[in-house]
Amino acid sequence: MTNVHERVVELAKRRGIFWPSYEIYGGVAGLYDLGPIGLRIKNKIVRLWRKFFIEDNDDMVVEIETPLVTPSRVLEASGHVENFTDPIVECKKCGRVFRADHLVEEALKINAEGLKPEDLTRLIREHDLKCPVDGGELGEVRLFNLLFRTQIGPYSSSVGYLRPETAQGMFTSFRRVYETFRQRLPLGIAQVGRVGRNEISPRQGLIRMREFSIMEVEFFIDPESGESPPFERVKGERLKVLIASEKEKGGSPSEFDVEELVTERIVVNPWMAYWMAVASRFVRALGIKDFYFEEKLPHERAHYSRQTFDQIALVKGEKVEISGHAYRGDYDLNRHSSFSGEDLSVFRKYEQPKVVKRKSVVVNKEALNKEGKEFVKEFMSRLAKMSPEEVEEALRRGETVNGRPIANYVTIAEREEKVHGEKFIPHVVEPSFGVERSLYLAILNAYTERKDRTLLLLPKEIAPYQVAVFPLLEREPLISKAKAIYERLRTEFETIYDESGSIGRRYARVDEIGVPYSVTVDPQSLEDNTVTIRDRDTWNQVRVKEEDLITALRKLLYDNARLESVGIPVSGTHE
Ligand code: ATP
Ligand code: GLY
Repeated sequence: MTNVHERVVELAKRRGIFWPSYEIYGGVAGLYDLGPIGLRIKNKIVRLWRKFFIEDNDDMVVEIETPLVTPSRVLEASGHVENFTDPIVECKKCGRVFRADHLVEEALKINAEGLKPEDLTRLIREHDLKCPVDGGELGEVRLFNLLFRTQIGPYSSSVGYLRPETAQGMFTSFRRVYETFRQRLPLGIAQVGRVGRNEISPRQGLIRMREFSIMEVEFFIDPESGESPPFERVKGERLKVLIASEKEKGGSPSEFDVEELVTERIVVNPWMAYWMAVASRFVRALGIKDFYFEEKLPHERAHYSRQTFDQIALVKGEKVEISGHAYRGDYDLNRHSSFSGEDLSVFRKYEQPKVVKRKSVVVNKEALNKEGKEFVKEFMSRLAKMSPEEVEEALRRGETVNGRPIANYVTIAEREEKVHGEKFIPHVVEPSFGVERSLYLAILNAYTERKDRTLLLLPKEIAPYQVAVFPLLEREPLISKAKAIYERLRTEFETIYDESGSIGRRYARVDEIGVPYSVTVDPQSLEDNTVTIRDRDTWNQVRVKEEDLITALRKLLYDNARLESVGIPVSGTHE
């Protein structure tokens, strides 16, 4: 009896969804090819994500594309060169390397995320943990950097890395997008792209890969604006959240209304709640109904994060993180600002100009010039280094220059000035989804076995095709008629045609890739111009007139109509 993951992987290979890359050379752990069917599903997932995160919010969010190859300096600034690490431990006998926190978690059934190498080594020694493969002794735990290193161009001094997240592209181009797009906050910059992470022990198909795609929004806000997110767009959304204090006590998630997360101060910023609600809708659209948000404890968070919630999907009895929601504050823009020397602040305009009192130093030139050139030079160079406030303090203390009271030469003037705003570094809220992990979880969730057959009960929006067309038998004139219908349907729907093998085998094939409806041309079609529509989920069939077929399919695919409402039920099926 194989486990469900193995069966999904087997189905994926058989039906062209995904398989290990470079298979003919033995494959490389963590690298996968997407096949023709897998890529269609992936593209639909990305399309759906774009709809929820970008199109439905296109008054605030724009999409860009930036490179995978990243100069070292950028990732030094972001903190990844120093901090993008996982703990590893090596078996002294066989030389195999394991992810130390996972090894400890599996052996001791505790949460070891974010523990320091010395604490993991201590746990390994205290509990006498051994190599899970050959029982050999384990060495000291140390940190391993997950960045893939490369060289940009012919000079070895020009170090680059594959980006581990798309986010840095949004930070480094923030100013340009801000200036060209709308010059006001909030501003979301979205990106879908490849990333590389040299994971220590890739596992379970597409869940932990070494190269994958990510869908991210870096949402730039003014933390003091007080402007509320458009909660009406996610009205009625209730979220299950396991907050940090509950998690520490071993508690379970509680349900909150999206706005309650703000009023109860569970999120550090209202936009966290907004994007978590959008993420809930998106994950539900993938067909995954059971999920919750788990707050990370401070030592579990990435170096840039002030608060993080992982969205945990529960699929086939397993808990897997499908997205991360981080409050990155001003960490990234601040770091890039100081590493690049560029000003990445924006201007916050006050509603009403503020009147501020400004002090200035007034030099009594006449009195000063009387003291001779040498003294003037020395006095002025000292003065240049002082702020008006420091000069005022020096006057108060009766300070002198070369024994002469400075009060003889300067006074402090105060005047009122209108200030229209101030500069600040925007803060960032980030929802981040792995594409292939989302694809895998959607497939795992849809995977169903019924009467020795396998079905992918994918939501219609992410099915690789909308409709399949078959002649009942592989012979004329059924074939010509089916082909003519196929040609008509494919102008409006994503349609697949198949005439080879028995009709039962053909239905089974489209069930396995999740095509929601099949249209079949049978001998009766030749007499009365009707065809059957078969529903993937129930295997029920109805008969419709050819001239009504497009309308019927539209109702089924877009209006969620019941099969029986679009035609006459067929008793006894083709199968
Ligand atoms: P994990 O704890 O599983 O390692 P993470 O916390 O490192 O994940 P994030 O850095 O938050 O993950 O990445 C954002 C999203 O990218 C994750 O929610 C997940 O969907 C996806 N992701 C992360 N690492 C991988 C990977 N190695 N392979 C496939 N998808 C991944
Ligand atoms: N950009 C978020 C992450 O990669 O974790």
